[in-house]
Amino acid sequence: MGIDKLIGVDKIPFFPPEASTFAREIDVLYLVTWALTIFFLGVVIVMLTVLAVVYRRNSKADRSHPIHTHHGLELAWSIIPMILGLMIFAWGAKLYADAYKVPDNAEEIFVVGKQWMWHIQHTNGIRENNTLTVPTGRPFKLTCISQDVIHSFFIPAFRIKRDVLPGHYTSAWFEATLPGEYHLFCAEYCGTEHSRMTGTVRVLTPENYQRWLDLKGTKETVEAKPVRAKSMEEEGQEIFESVGCANCHTAEDTPRAPSLYALFGKKRQMQNGEILVADRDYLRANILTPNDKITAGYEATMPTYQGNLTEEQVNALVAYIKSLGTSEEPKPAGGEVKIQNGKVVTPPVAPKAATSNTQGGN
Ligand code: CUA
Repeated sequence: MGIDKLIGVDKIPFFPPEASTFAREIDVLYLVTWALTIFFLGVVIVMLTVLAVVYRRNSKADRSHPIHTHHGLELAWSIIPMILGLMIFAWGAKLYADAYKVPDNAEEIFVVGKQWMWHIQHTNGIRENNTLTVPTGRPFKLTCISQDVIHSFFIPAFRIKRDVLPGHYTSAWFEATLPGEYHLFCAEYCGTEHSRMTGTVRVLTPENYQRWLDLKGTKETVEAKPVRAKSMEEEGQEIFESVGCANCHTAEDTPRAPSLYALFGKKRQMQNGEILVADRDYLRANILTPNDKITAGYEATMPTYQGNLTEEQVNALVAYIKSLGTSEEPKPAGGEVKIQNGKVVTPPVAPKAATSNTQGGN
């Protein structure tokens, strides 16, 4: 039962539905804060009224012993509200931390905001406009970026809201609990049609979600043969080849360019001595404006892709680069590794001794 039903206001939409794991906890905190506020407001109003009536002019109230100081009373009305205030603070801080600490097993969904629509990319390649389809019972991480101005991704039924900024990724997460259709808003004034930058969040049961995936994951070709939608990694690989990344970035470092294999999450030294972690923001910046920060040991020879790639394409490229390995995985043996059509082709696994001297390079 929703809080609104509990307090008998479910006929009036004071509260959006509670459709995520956060919703109930946030509503309880909100209602407790609200109840405390009403309580203290009540105390003040009652005292004000009673004292005004009792001590009105010409009343016969006893005025012979006015109290000037009462330490007990003063301490009580200072300390009790202070404790209550700190409790609300600690409680709110805990919920805030929970809402922004993305669980490790969360699946990633990409959100691109632009004037004036929401574009959603699922890692399996499915795309949606102004609609976000998710199943219940699974945590999802939203990685958001804007193509132009600041937007804000707001799903009231999930009690999540995250600013979506140009040039920098932000993230949020949720786990949906209640199947249904909910509002999706932009909550940051972003221009003329801000108020129309809305959409629908569709929460499906896991079974219906699977059906939806099967339906969306294939598309009919001219010959009416269903083909699987390209995953983000596959799309990224195609971009990698078509815009020419593969010409310089091979499986091994070359004098022209560093290898991108197993780059994601690794620490990199810049020409100016700065150490940066090759995360999503780093890769995006190095794709769009590569000459701002040059990796130590390389020349500024890479062309800039600012304006040539959309944020969706950058998301796909980063997904592909990420698929080339993470910092924990060693690079494949040198020499034999080839890039074929932009994809690293690893040789058959060689005995350990044979590959032990081929690490390094970056
Ligand atoms: Cu986008 Cu307001």
